[in-house]
Amino acid sequence: MEDGKLKELLSDMSVEEKIDQLLQVTGYYFEEEGVVTGPNNQAGFMQQEVDLAGSVLGIAGADKLIGIQKKYMEKQPHQIPLLFMADIINGFRTIFPIPLAQGCSFDPEIAKIGAEVAAKESAVSGLHLTFSPMVDLVRDPRWGRVMESTGEDPYLNSEFARAMVKGYQGDGELSQPYKIAACVKHFAGYGAPMAGREYNTVELSNRTLFDSYLPSYQAAIDAGCATAMTSFNTLDRIPSTANKWLMRDILRTHMGFEGVLISDWAAIEEIIHHGVAEGKKQAARLALEAGVDIDMMTTCYCRNIKELLDENKIDSALLDEAVYRVLVLKNRLGLFENPFKDANSQWEEDVILSKEHRKLARQAAAQTMVLLKNEDQILPLKKEGQKIAFIGPHADSPYLMGVWSIFGRMEDVITIKEGVKRAGVTEASFYRGAPVVSDLTKLELHSEVREQILSDIKASKALLKEALLAAQDSDIVVLALGEYPAQSGEAASRTNLHLDPLQLELLRQVKKINPNIVTVLLNGRPLIIEDVLADSKAVLEAWLPGTEGGNAIADILFGDVTPSGKLSMSFPRTVGQIPIYYNDFPTGRPVLGKKEKYLSQYIDCPNEPLFPFGYGLSYTAFEISPITLSHKILSGDGSIQASVCVRNTGHREGAQVIQLYIKDEVGSVSRPNRELKGFRKVYLKPGEEAEVVFDINTSMLKFYDNTMQYVCEPGSFRLFIGADSATENSVSFTVE
Ligand code: IFM
Repeated sequence: MEDGKLKELLSDMSVEEKIDQLLQVTGYYFEEEGVVTGPNNQAGFMQQEVDLAGSVLGIAGADKLIGIQKKYMEKQPHQIPLLFMADIINGFRTIFPIPLAQGCSFDPEIAKIGAEVAAKESAVSGLHLTFSPMVDLVRDPRWGRVMESTGEDPYLNSEFARAMVKGYQGDGELSQPYKIAACVKHFAGYGAPMAGREYNTVELSNRTLFDSYLPSYQAAIDAGCATAMTSFNTLDRIPSTANKWLMRDILRTHMGFEGVLISDWAAIEEIIHHGVAEGKKQAARLALEAGVDIDMMTTCYCRNIKELLDENKIDSALLDEAVYRVLVLKNRLGLFENPFKDANSQWEEDVILSKEHRKLARQAAAQTMVLLKNEDQILPLKKEGQKIAFIGPHADSPYLMGVWSIFGRMEDVITIKEGVKRAGVTEASFYRGAPVVSDLTKLELHSEVREQILSDIKASKALLKEALLAAQDSDIVVLALGEYPAQSGEAASRTNLHLDPLQLELLRQVKKINPNIVTVLLNGRPLIIEDVLADSKAVLEAWLPGTEGGNAIADILFGDVTPSGKLSMSFPRTVGQIPIYYNDFPTGRPVLGKKEKYLSQYIDCPNEPLFPFGYGLSYTAFEISPITLSHKILSGDGSIQASVCVRNTGHREGAQVIQLYIKDEVGSVSRPNRELKGFRKVYLKPGEEAEVVFDINTSMLKFYDNTMQYVCEPGSFRLFIGADSATENSVSFTVE
């Protein structure tokens, strides 16, 4: 529809119709007739309120959504179609690794492909929009939602944000086949709740917000992201959803976002809980004034906007701009011409979980795993001639998908047992050994899963005994340990990041019998693993690898794929070090190898993490040469080239991620100890070498100075190129 027509449509709509467009409700209200009563109606909607709501979240299925759309449009006075949205963060039915793992691939193309697959499967199932990418910077693994982010670095997160938006939306029109709109979230600063406690207060200086937290949202916006979601938190004590400065001055004016802004679930009503609105009417006014277009799951907008208008408390232009943005989005998706878009049950059959999609998910998962230790080159294992006991709650579990895999199904998951069997391993046996979690108090579980875990808890002694007998009788023990997926994700903050006590006991007991232990970790966040590391010869961080997890783990364990993942988040030694991140700041009392008391240090633990950002081993070895600089002085809009030669000195083909970090030695404000400014993943055969060249220019050295101007200040810089963020391979250069 032409823009003029869209505006005509807007001016023809009644106030009530306009308000309808701003309401989003969960699919529950549309799936069944007459359900707007009872315990599932927590928001307290009345039937007539949800009947013509402009968008729906959380349901999918071509036939179902076509049916809902048809019925809806019959009632819709202006034939405005309904918009279907859902959280498809790492796949629809073909589940890819969790985003934190995807970050570890250091290969944004993987995220782009994952998003393309997710978009295709979602689109044929009738969806129009995904609430992804989540690009919140994360520095605190106590926070469960670190699994949804690509990690602790603004540059890495920005690269992945861009790639995901492109994957979902493509480069052209949103109406093109197999594409869905993306939604960058959660604006802003949601990844920094104090003490890692979900929904807690966020305290960020403007400089930290601008320098570290905003770049990844900006990258998504620059890539054309169609929508954005407000965050639950306050910023400078103002709830984001009511923060006019944040949403209008920063998001829209400063960052150039023109799309639809949606509240997070019930976030408009939560303005009241934050103590910033007296009631729903004031909350509605604040959110609308801040420029929030869609109210997700509250009655704030639908019950109050009319009254606010009648009382002249808001201008009708505010309502019109929000509705117009929603109509523009529907129009961009082509819904006025084809309200069903790609929904098609035949296509669902052809596309969903196709061989090709499974293959891509398997490749992605293998690229995201990080080898943390490999003593005596115990890995890769041999498919023949080694008796291997796979022990642990994840040895044959389908619990390999992150919690937001809402349409993913456990029965589609390739478990480690299946993966190993398919790999043709001749002498492998499998034992549970311990329950996946021994304290279910705060976990919301499906009744079948709860039963299974409870029965494992009851039988834990017998499980352990059986596993130890197997360990004794094997050459190698692969321990598949970790979290139950619901232990990470939204509303899953933890203060104890150790493995479950019964899993640790299993490890200790196996160690007494058989020291040839390879531990595979399946979890959604960095855990505290010094003990695991000490008791294992090899440790592979496999994260929550998704539908093809078991195949991908077998690919890595048996050497069909050489591990190349690098940590997208630092691993702390202890919870006491958190928040810990590589791009921290110098202090007035740095340690620098000194042995004195009054320094910035702990008296019971080193400052350094167990594993730094960017760390990860391979089955082969790489040498990185000293750095060569084309010039030592960078001026104006010129550039200098920094290059290294990387050589595969081992005996296997493999990939190394060459990482570029820069430190601004003296600034008008204190500058990070180093910052990632570039990376390249280089694939090399044994003996092969390659030159890696990075272009350095002044725009990549910009930051917010002491007057909050975004500038590159002249002076001296140190440039590091290496295989992780702790590299000491460095040279200096000067900016004039
Ligand atoms: O998209 C999510 C958000 O990340 C958390 N609250 C609910 C939303 C919709 O499901």
